[in-house]
Amino acid sequence: MKSRTVVARVDELPPGSMTVVPVGKFGVGVYNIDGTYSAIANYCPHRGGPMCVGQLTGETTAGAAPYSQVFSRQNEFIKCPWHGWEFELASGQAAAANVRVRTYEVVVEDGDVILLGA
Ligand code: FES
Repeated sequence: MKSRTVVARVDELPPGSMTVVPVGKFGVGVYNIDGTYSAIANYCPHRGGPMCVGQLTGETTAGAAPYSQVFSRQNEFIKCPWHGWEFELASGQAAAANVRVRTYEVVVEDGDVILLGA
């Protein structure tokens, strides 16, 4: 059975907020992005940077017009503060490399936000 850590009451972690839970060796960041919860290890798989100090960002892809870009999925990615690698919060997958940061499941039960497996 997965371990369970109560992170906060739902109203203590509103959309747009995050908290780092002191579990494991480096902690786990729990994010509420527009009502969807994600949890990632506070440890970058590149060189071990403190991932959750990084800023949230979105995805930049090529646009339809030549040399144009489209910015989308705002706040669904996090940029590591050390070297700027970007990772998708939901999957932990790096945007530009074949590595991922560890992710965890988050559930809401009886008004509590609960981190599983950390
Ligand atoms: S340690 Fe995170 S990008 Fe290098």
